[in-house]
Amino acid sequence: MTDIDIRVRINGSNRTDRVPPRLTLADYLRDRCGLTGTHLGCEHGVCGSCTVLLDGEAVRACLLFAVQVDGSELTTIEGLAGPDGELSPVQAAFRDQHGLQCGFCTPGFIVSATAFLRDNPEPSDDDIREGLSGNLCRCTGYQGIIRAVRAAAGTEPGSQRP
Ligand code: FES
Ligand code: FES
Repeated sequence: MTDIDIRVRINGSNRTDRVPPRLTLADYLRDRCGLTGTHLGCEHGVCGSCTVLLDGEAVRACLLFAVQVDGSELTTIEGLAGPDGELSPVQAAFRDQHGLQCGFCTPGFIVSATAFLRDNPEPSDDDIREGLSGNLCRCTGYQGIIRAVRAAAGTEPGSQRP
């Protein structure tokens, strides 16, 4: 099959690339763009490690082809921090609340939590569990993750809304 030209905006920068039609978005981000914070766990839509924002919506990069995002805006975990490297509120909360163990699932959780809190800024614990139910942590570090999302929302006791 013939390669196809795509034009995307990733983490605030425009790119054009010629890609094979079967190249997944995850492999495109990792191999072509060097954005290896997007992790590949299951590669079939189960674990959520590959979650990125596509025009603001959390999507699984392993389930999309790069050609499908032509003309779109993407944000990966690398794009969430400020330009000077300052951690986003969700990233800082994961660090402060011990929301990561091995860290493999962390980018996906943080991207998912970022979209979730944008849409639901004052979540209950049930909301948080439901909102992150599409992400799996093989270290089973869920308590720290939930505390981190609560902290980022400002609902963890002793935390302050950033
Ligand atoms: S690698 Fe995409 S959902 Fe698991
Ligand atoms: S922190 Fe290890 S997989 Fe989640």
